[in-house]
Amino acid sequence: MDLSLLSGSANIGLANSVARKLGLGLCDRLLTRFPDTELHVELRGNVRGKDVYLLQPTNPPVDEHLLELALLADACFRSGAARLTGVIPYLGYARQDRRTHGREPLSTRVIADLLGAARLQRVVAVNLHSPAIEGAFSLPLEHLSAVPILAEAVRSSVASKTVIVAPDLGAAKLADHYGELLHLPVAIIHKARLSGEEVVVRPVFGEVKGKSVLIVDDMISTGGTVETAIKALLDAECAPDFVVVATHGLFVGSAAERFRSLPVRRLLFADSVPAPTGFLVPFEVVSLAPLLAETIQCLHNDRPPGDLAG
Ligand code: R5P
Repeated sequence: MDLSLLSGSANIGLANSVARKLGLGLCDRLLTRFPDTELHVELRGNVRGKDVYLLQPTNPPVDEHLLELALLADACFRSGAARLTGVIPYLGYARQDRRTHGREPLSTRVIADLLGAARLQRVVAVNLHSPAIEGAFSLPLEHLSAVPILAEAVRSSVASKTVIVAPDLGAAKLADHYGELLHLPVAIIHKARLSGEEVVVRPVFGEVKGKSVLIVDDMISTGGTVETAIKALLDAECAPDFVVVATHGLFVGSAAERFRSLPVRRLLFADSVPAPTGFLVPFEVVSLAPLLAETIQCLHNDRPPGDLAG
């Protein structure tokens, strides 16, 4: 069975890099809008009888990219794709995996059901907000981790007096993974979220006094979490030396403004979503293309992918 790679419009740069690694061209498709802004999707390339990998993260505008993903998936199904895998390097709605108040939806579950209804047969995701999200999916999920490649990229910036900091309890397992790979201790901040933009912190657990800090997280959205973590760490008398690494660099809302005033020496993230433009703060992007290309190659050959998220 031939392999075919198709991409929505969310992250063409990454799709092209993955295609180059696989030695393939991207399957041609047309994305247009009707005058009332309704999306229209049409495959131009032939996917009949093929093992199709549809790459589309759900970076902003989240709902548009999600719908593009669903419609492209259905187009592949109806055009006779033999096997259909969604490669979703960043999956939005993953933070709404439980109901914190009454009268809310279980949004992660709804999105997982939507992807199944769109006829995806399997999903490849990278550093989901929580590994437990797999439970929301009735279709098989290959959950990859970008931590090994990000840890390698940041290795030159850490010393024996560096401590890895999880800026909230949810990032504790991720921080442990960095800690194992970089042989460094881990501290954890107890964060409480007041709103989409505002967070407050309670105590810092672990020894940070006098230490340089490597803050790790699955994603940076508005930068509120990183900003609050840095304030708490400075209050706890860490050294004013911060490196920040995250898998998904969304940088929305006040993120650019926040990072301009933060004492961050190095900022790294992966290319699960396109890098921010006009950000005015230096950053480094680590490509997921080798990991995704290798995973696609493994799945195509019915072999298990290597770096599953720990
Ligand atoms: C939340 O639990 C996540 O792991 C991130 O810490 C959070 O989503 C980052 O968002 P922001 O940058 O807006 O604080």
